[in-house]
Amino acid sequence: MKVIRVEGVSFRYRRAERYSLKDVSFEVRKGEFLGIIGPSGSGKSTLCLTLNGIIPNLIKGEFSGDIVIRDPRTGEEYNTRETPVSELSTVVGLILQNPESQLFNMTVEEEIAFGLENLGLERNEILRRLRWVLEVTRLKGLEKEFPPNLSGGQQQRLAIAAVLAMEPSVLVLDEPTSQLDPLGRNEVLGLVSLLNREYGITVVMVEHHTDYIFRYADRVIVMNEGRVVLEGRPSDLLGEVETLRNLGVRLPHVVEVSYELAKLGLLRRPVASEEELLTQIGRPSR
Ligand SMILES: Nc1ncnc2c1ncn2[C@@H]1O[C@H](COP(=O)(O)OP(=O)(O)OP(=O)(O)O)[C@@H](O)[C@H]1O
Ligand SMILES: [Mg+2]
Repeated sequence: MKVIRVEGVSFRYRRAERYSLKDVSFEVRKGEFLGIIGPSGSGKSTLCLTLNGIIPNLIKGEFSGDIVIRDPRTGEEYNTRETPVSELSTVVGLILQNPESQLFNMTVEEEIAFGLENLGLERNEILRRLRWVLEVTRLKGLEKEFPPNLSGGQQQRLAIAAVLAMEPSVLVLDEPTSQLDPLGRNEVLGLVSLLNREYGITVVMVEHHTDYIFRYADRVIVMNEGRVVLEGRPSDLLGEVETLRNLGVRLPHVVEVSYELAKLGLLRRPVASEEELLTQIGRPSR
């Protein structure tokens, strides 16, 4: 089942000379983990903002094409152009780069409950969701903390918790770890992968640490100058190393190294993970 259908979408910001998205089309299936990569300025963030309707409902400009979101629980379809963002955000949750910009309450608990109170949910339902998201994002015990006092990784997990409490079917994450240290990055991306694998949440994630994309994504879209220029499984991208390099996409070390080894004839073909590399060259015996 398709949860997102992007059909021929183009978008130009107000007063901008050029289009930031040009005839973009793709689909996202239920339960899928879709990675989005591409050089700076290629339209990745703009694309994320279209998926829950912020573009064109709140950020206006010249928008054409259609984005249809299907709520897998009800089967109901929403065209983002005709649906308020508040309604879309119960199906598609959006997480941005900077966790601080998404947090504005006095405690962790209030941060999570805020959106739920706005939905007009009953107290028991709010408590049930609060318990669940605190558990899954491993923020239990920090309920009364002042969000700015949390570590970067905890803050981003809190931003995810607040979105998750709305019980969206899809999480869209725009470089969720770009402000984090390696520890925070592991925490956050580990959580995203868990939500996808264990809880069946569909994930669309922009991440320039492509090693995570190669590890977690089922499928990858590569953007350049507002267009989708490549699409495929991570393993398919191994045949496109030169193209990706020319676009300025940073590839995982293991891909770079194995690509060079394959060129020298020392490896049959480039690989996407250390596991595969060990399988090809033979595991060192101890
Ligand atoms: N609010 C805006 N108004 C006008 N132009 C914008 C606006 N936001 C982005 N753009 C332009 O749209 C294009 C795509 O930008 P976008 O931020 O979507 O790229 P990106 O792939 O997310 O880049 P990065 O990797 O640096 O985050 C760029 O040319 C950018 O200058
Ligand atoms: Mg961006």
